[in-house]
Amino acid sequence: MERIFGRPIVTQEEMRARIRELGKQITADYTGKDFVLVGVLKGAYAFYADLARAIRIPMRVDFLIVTSRGFRAKTSGKVKLITELTEDIKGKDVLLVEDIVDSGLTVQHLLKTLTKKKPRSIKVCTLLNKPDSRTIDVAIDYVGFKIPNKYVVGYGLDYQQKYRNLPYLAVLDVEEDQE
Ligand code: IMP
Ligand code: MG
Repeated sequence: MERIFGRPIVTQEEMRARIRELGKQITADYTGKDFVLVGVLKGAYAFYADLARAIRIPMRVDFLIVTSRGFRAKTSGKVKLITELTEDIKGKDVLLVEDIVDSGLTVQHLLKTLTKKKPRSIKVCTLLNKPDSRTIDVAIDYVGFKIPNKYVVGYGLDYQQKYRNLPYLAVLDVEEDQE
């Protein structure tokens, strides 16, 4: 059984306004740099598209497909890279775009993997941060919204691959069946 709580926790208007601010900040920070924006799919697809268009400097776009959890909402603790980058990021300034940082395992794993490709710099931008759910310490450079330790869906984020197309962010009350 699953149901979405009635009220969005981040509305479309709040999302739009915050992404505009992030875009301005990133534009200022990366002006004059050899900039690559790397999206982590599938979850970051909606945020990525809006963020990229809020950044007013030339950039390369690239994507990684990653799975960190299976059928259930709880993290499996394993991060699997399904695809590789198509751009060579050596010597470039990379910004990794995530939907949400929860335990921190995915970001930690991706930073480790991408650092081996010798970018000039690598930073992390996440739409959502759940600091109360962190099991490891990772540095996050840009955060859209800090949210409580609840399972959220919409705006790219899923529950069992559904709800990604919800235009706002909502809390999902997950009642999973017993094993
Ligand atoms: P982490 O490795 O535990 O930090 O989890 C990162 C990934 O888990 C995110 O990129 C999401 O795909 C997924 N995730 C974590 N929390 C949520 C949530 O509340 N809703 C939907 N997906 C989530
Ligand atoms: Mg993700």
